[in-house]
Amino acid sequence: MKFQLSYLIRGLPGHPLHPPLTDVTIGSYTFATVAALADVLGISNHTAAQAWWLALLFGLIVTTVTAVTGLADWLTIERGTELWKTATAHGIAMALAAVVFLIAVLQGHDDFKSGNVHAGSLILTLIGFGVLTLGGWLGGAIVFTHGMRVLNLVEEPATRAAAPVTYPEKEMAEGS
Ligand code: HEM
Repeated sequence: MKFQLSYLIRGLPGHPLHPPLTDVTIGSYTFATVAALADVLGISNHTAAQAWWLALLFGLIVTTVTAVTGLADWLTIERGTELWKTATAHGIAMALAAVVFLIAVLQGHDDFKSGNVHAGSLILTLIGFGVLTLGGWLGGAIVFTHGMRVLNLVEEPATRAAAPVTYPEKEMAEGS
């Protein structure tokens, strides 16, 4: 396998880094939203409020790596193309969601200490989650509609498809 420095930040063709990181990020924010609702609805107090804040904090930390890998892929897209428009809208939505969650964490530290999610924190979390969902929808369009980073090697032997091998010919043709 011919090593390229970009593999460290973009992952391999067929095994990009951004998608698995997005699962961790979206998972953290989703859990935080559920925990906030659990606290406000009285299903679980104190613990849920602390879980809410910690999950948001963890989500923000992972977001930095997720955003860097996404940005690295975005930089390979030809400017002004339809794919670029979708990817840019996706990146902006995700950055916006992260800002909303950051505000929720900063203003919600007292909620973490008191073990009680207040209305403002819940509203910010729900807004952040809504924008995150929109960003996720656009992320899906980049991959599943425009087909970015999809090799589509249907007949590829399963062992080779799962292995960390590269596909130079595909890589060059599709910027994967
Ligand atoms: C909170 C941060 C982010 C999250 C949670 C996120 C989420 C996602 C999701 C869910 C997908 C679809 C992948 C799949 O179906 O598995 C995706 C793809 C993509 N995202 Fe993001 N994204 C984030 C930040 C960014 C940023 C800042 C950019 C840069 C503009 C970006 C650029 C891309 C690109 C180019 C793709 C398609 C290629 C690829 O998967 O790498 N993303 N993102």
